[in-house]
Amino acid sequence: MNLTALAFLLAGFSTVSAVLCSNGKTVLNAACCQLFPVLADLQENLFDTPCNEPVRIVLHLAFHDAMGFSLSQGAAAGQGADGSIITFASNETTFPENFALDGVIGWVTPLIARHNLSDGDFLHFAASVGIATCPGAPRPKFLLGRPQAISPAVSGLVPTASDSVTTILARCADVGISPSEIVALLASHSVGASYAIDPVIPGAPFDTTPGIFDTQVFTEVLLPGVLFPGNGSNVGEVMSPLRGEVRLQSDFEIARDSRTACAWKSLVGNQAMMQVQFAAAMAKLSAIGQNINAMVDCSDVIPIPSAVTEKPSFPQGFTSADIEDACPSVGLPVLATLPGPIATASPA
Ligand SMILES: *[C@@H]1O[C@H](CO)[C@@H](O)[C@H](O)[C@H]1NC(C)=O
Ligand SMILES: *[C@@H]1O[C@H](CO)[C@@H](O)[C@H](O)[C@H]1NC(C)=O
Ligand SMILES: *[C@@H]1O[C@H](CO)[C@@H](O)[C@H](O)[C@H]1NC(C)=O
Repeated sequence: MNLTALAFLLAGFSTVSAVLCSNGKTVLNAACCQLFPVLADLQENLFDTPCNEPVRIVLHLAFHDAMGFSLSQGAAAGQGADGSIITFASNETTFPENFALDGVIGWVTPLIARHNLSDGDFLHFAASVGIATCPGAPRPKFLLGRPQAISPAVSGLVPTASDSVTTILARCADVGISPSEIVALLASHSVGASYAIDPVIPGAPFDTTPGIFDTQVFTEVLLPGVLFPGNGSNVGEVMSPLRGEVRLQSDFEIARDSRTACAWKSLVGNQAMMQVQFAAAMAKLSAIGQNINAMVDCSDVIPIPSAVTEKPSFPQGFTSADIEDACPSVGLPVLATLPGPIATASPA
């Protein structure tokens, strides 16, 4: 190697050396320093307890925002993960799929006003910070640099719990998300809860551990459904295995459909694989419609989530014999059954 090449290499290294921000933290890109005050505000004023209701709601909002994009319909359908659900809230919250999200947007607008980020950067940063409060979550990636949204998305682009698997796969393909990436994104339901499906049981979780970002939802959705936890059957809901737990029709079907069942079953009890796949799919979701070459990687601002300590398991009363198996070619890990009588899932 000649000296010019060596000098070039060293120069290359110097561009990735750490930058000291005014709060004493180091990041790789100075542009990321501006995110620390936003992080502190979110931690103090929105996500003040780990993996709380605002985390679920911001994730939900980020998903609805990002889906506002269509390869087939073109730019007029929306610019994806651009924050338009906030910028054009008065327009987008009239869509049936965004029912009741105006109240939620009211939670975040005061925080947005205190900082100098585009609505899209704020929303998708908040989603990453929120995920990171959940024990067991992977450290989410965050790219900075979404321009302010220029137009609202159109209605009808967000898959719903009562859609068929064919409809959901087609809608996701139209934003560039594959069937296995959909399954990976559904790991978010491990910290999910239902607020609108059945109003009689607000906060009913989708698995028995809604405060932990784990693989229980993949296990529990494969158990036989025997009851409705609230006031009977609702749109988008099917029978669940446990009192207190809501099962979404879409989760039930994706877990059993030949196009997605193997991806689903491969995540049962596999925390490490779930983390890798969810982080990758979430990074893709949060950049839908955006020019990632013009964005700065600020992932080093996102806190490292705490590890999950609970082992994956079957809820009380269930074993591998109960699994409704739509993918025999993928093996099941050996999971213990929690001791005691069949339990009721507690609200999130
Ligand atoms: C939303 O915006 C679109 C495009 O700008 C417009 O055509 C539509 O009428 C608006 N809808 C509402 C409810 O404001
Ligand atoms: C806000 O951010 C924009 C774009 O990054 C920048 O040009 C502007 O100077 C910032 N304003 C303040 C008050 O920091
Ligand atoms: C439960 O469902 C029944 C039948 O749909 C309805 O008449 C009743 O008002 C519901 N109860 C509550 C508390 O929502």
